Amino acid sequence: MRLGPGRNSLERLAIATARGNAEVYLHGAHVTAWQPSGADPVIWVSGDSQFHPDKPIRGGVPICFPWFAAHATDASAPMHGFARLRGWTLASAEDRNGEVQVRFLLTDDDTSRRSSWPHRFQAEYRVTFGDRLGMALDVANTGDAPLTFEAVLHTYFAVGNIREVGVTGLAATEYLDKVDGFTRKREGDAPIRFTGETDRIYLDTESTCTIHDPELRRRIEVVKTGSLSTVVWNPWIDKARAMPDFGDDEWPSMLCIETANVRDAAVRLEPASHHTMTAVIGVGAL
Ligand code: BG6
Repeated sequence: MRLGPGRNSLERLAIATARGNAEVYLHGAHVTAWQPSGADPVIWVSGDSQFHPDKPIRGGVPICFPWFAAHATDASAPMHGFARLRGWTLASAEDRNGEVQVRFLLTDDDTSRRSSWPHRFQAEYRVTFGDRLGMALDVANTGDAPLTFEAVLHTYFAVGNIREVGVTGLAATEYLDKVDGFTRKREGDAPIRFTGETDRIYLDTESTCTIHDPELRRRIEVVKTGSLSTVVWNPWIDKARAMPDFGDDEWPSMLCIETANVRDAAVRLEPASHHTMTAVIGVGAL
């Protein structure tokens, strides 16, 4: 385990144990790699990501908090909230027989309170790098008024070829289709297949999702708790081209399955209460 400068000198914790390799940046508490021993990399990061202190990292696991997508009323506020743009405090990092547990903290300050989200909070993010990748985002209301937040563990997975991939776990689930003007639709019973830009918010679902990847001959399982929404995203050709930090030809090799609480599932916290959302990622043979 080594804390030091990573890409573009941003501070990074690099982990190499008998169980595998991983890395996480303090900028955004952003996981950018997890590769269990003997497996291909599970987490995808764009080769064009900027690794700039003022920009989110493209790929890995951005934490979207305290809002998702554009801010409801402030067009100048950053997309997906401020958490992925802030330096988090690395509170602890422990190696327990090759399973590394890392704890990050983010609390409100003058900048966050001026950012269209004037609340007092403490966010604790616990990541476990082992045979599985465990992520737990715990948000506490440390103020004296109720607050409401959205949160997403916006996980980018590496896939062999998006056109061959199927996703199960969301059968018969209603979703908002962003590429069709947020029309409300219902998923069928067959695995989800990808034939074009896909940007969907699946509603009221706590289900485990599985990515079936015949090219990499593996399945990736996302088990979650404390999360009622799942976002599924692949930008496809035109949107990938339009993003400066996303290679034009990279879209076939990634898929986002995002553990979320957004829109109607936004979390309301009374003073002195807290909420935990978790995702555990596992990999197996197909
Ligand atoms: C997804 C959204 O979660 O994130 C998409 O549903 C969005 O609409 C994507 O394009 C990437 O967002 P950003 O801000 O990282 O470019």
